[in-house]
Parts: sequence; structure tokens; C-alpha cells
Amino acid sequence: MTIAISLPNPEKLIWWTDHLGALLPEHEVLAAADITRPKEVTYAVVWQPPAGLLSSYPNLRATISIGAGIDHVAADPDYPAAIPVVKTIGPDMTQRMCEYVALHVLRLHRHLPDLQDAQRRGAWHQIVTPTAPNRKVGVLGQGHLGRHAALTLRGLGFDVAGWSRSGAAPDGIDGYDGGALDAFLARNDIFVCLLPLTPDTRGILCADAFAKMPKGASIINAARGAHLVEDDLLAALETGQIAQATLDVFNTEPLPEAHAFWSHPNVLITPHVASLIDPVSGGEVIAANIRTLDAGEVPDALTHVGRGY
Ligand code: NAP
Ligand code: GLV
Repeated sequence: MTIAISLPNPEKLIWWTDHLGALLPEHEVLAAADITRPKEVTYAVVWQPPAGLLSSYPNLRATISIGAGIDHVAADPDYPAAIPVVKTIGPDMTQRMCEYVALHVLRLHRHLPDLQDAQRRGAWHQIVTPTAPNRKVGVLGQGHLGRHAALTLRGLGFDVAGWSRSGAAPDGIDGYDGGALDAFLARNDIFVCLLPLTPDTRGILCADAFAKMPKGASIINAARGAHLVEDDLLAALETGQIAQATLDVFNTEPLPEAHAFWSHPNVLITPHVASLIDPVSGGEVIAANIRTLDAGEVPDALTHVGRGY
């Protein structure tokens, strides 16, 4: 049984191949380019695999995403939809995302951009902000990361709502279902996007959504660049409909040098670092999921492309 590894970054490819080879000695672990007998590939461990690679393994049992998102697998039009995909989420990834969301919601809540601007002007500009219970924060997506982020914000005292298809949300979080999007958009001052990227969620942060938010709302996108219509955001920043945007993910990554976001005074850019997979603990999660599959069981994080998450 062979495990094929595919990542665009050559150094990471060597690291993951060696690391998983050591963690899974009962398997042959090879970089996809070194595989001569595709029929023997039972698992593929991938990040942004080339189109057609996964459909070239006729006995593939599961694809393992080196990350929480599976949109990079679903992007391959030839992906055999019956083959399950296992997401990789561990405690480190959840912790990092919660830290990122707390940091950036607090930054916006306490008007840090305005205080930094005042400092640059040498101005003693006191701003009294409402307390967290009087600040409404909406988290789009109540999956593993969205739920934990919402609970972290709740723990800081914020008045938090979560939006998802079903409206399911943990205790203490005000749940809104798919049909209640307009009410959810009207409710919040700060929005955090933690949706999976699917045909239904692509472009959800657009002019129409911004118009339904309270004037001066702020957004944080830590999910995928394609959730956001970038030109619509620039227009909404121009009118003040959106006051601030914190963006970790972009349509094109790395963000092109000439992109208007780089120099925009009301945009904070982070380079897709909200919660990078930790290679060591992430490797252990992947190895454990492969052992679960070997035992004929179903890992918690198993899903299918097209299912939406
Ligand atoms: P997930 O578990 O796949 O999210 C599922 C949630 O999204 C559920 O609440 C689901 O609602 C909701 N949902 C799905 N389709 C929907 C729709 N059409 N309308 C409304 N709600 C919908 O996602 P996750 O694993 O928590 O990851 C969240 C995001 O973070 C992903 O985009 C991932 O790629 C990204 N990510 C980014 C980084 C980074 O460093 N920036 C790191 C890790 C992950 P129901 O359950 O009700 O169906
Ligand atoms: C990172 O973006 C991930 O999906 O894990």
C-alpha cells in the first residue's frame, strides 16, 4: 500500500514525505512524482494537487488534505467525487485560529487603527469604546473553527452570533440559519468569515452583503480569498460602508505587488498565517487518520467534495 504525497513547495514535499514515512513505517510513502505503480496508491496526502493527479490512482481509498480546507481538492474537475477527503484539524490549528480571531476582533473593537493613525499625527486622541458585551460580532460558518472562534469571542464577553446552513451554534452563541442571512448581516458590527469555500459561499462577502451590514461595519476574512469580491470591498471602503478589513487570504496568493490592498489605510494584510498547519502535530493527526482508515473506521474529519464542508 502506497501513500502519495503532493505539495507545490519542494522543501515541504521532502519534509512531509520523510516525516510521514517515519510515522507510518507500515506504508510506502513516496512523493507523487516518484510513483511508478499508480495502482498501488491507496491514500494521497495533498495540498493544492495538480489537476488529474488524484484521478490517476484507480485504487485510491481517501485523499487527506494537508489543512482544514478541502477546496484545493474540489478545484480539480476530475476529482472522483465518491472518494472521501479527510480534513486535517488538530488542537494547534484550532488554538491558532482562535488567537487570530481574538486578536483582530479586539483590534477593531478597541479602534486600534485609529489610535495608530493618531500616533502618526502626534495627536492625543482619546476614544471611548463600548464594552465587549455591547459589541455584536458575527461569525460566518459554525464548523470546527467557526464554533471555537465564536466561543473564544464569547469568553471575552462579546455578543456573538453564528451563521450556518442549519443555524446550529454552541450554547451562548446566537444561531442564524441560511435563510436568515439578511438579519445576521444587519445584526453585527464586526464579521469574521470562517466558511468553507463552496459554490454557495464563493463571493459571499460582496456589495450586496456590505449594503445590508450597519454602516461602518468591519470584516475579517480568515477563510478563503474567493469568499470576498475584492473590488466590492474597495468600493465599500471608499464610501465608509465598511470601515476596516483584516484579510488573511486572497484570490491570488501571494498577494500581487501592485494590489490596491497593500497600501490601503483601512486594510490590514496578513499572509495566510491565521492558522497554518503545524507540520509536527499535523503529521500526527494525519498518521492517526490513516490508521483509522486502515482499521476500516471513519475519521471524524472525513467528508466528500460537493457536500459543502
Ligand atoms: P467547516 O467545518 O467546513 O465549516 C462548516 C460550517 O460552514 C458549518 O457551520 C456549515 O453549516 C457552514 N456552511 C457550509 N456551507 C454553508 C452555506 N452555503 N451557507 C451557510 N453556512 C454554510 O470549516 P472549518 O474547517 O471550520 O474551516 C473554516 C474555514 O477556514 C475554511 O474556509 C478553511 O479553508 C479556512 N482555514 C483557513 C486557515 C488560515 O490559515 N487562514 C486555516 C485553516 C482553515 P452547516 O453545518 O449548518 O451545514
Ligand atoms: C489553511 O488554509 C487550511 O485550510 O488549513
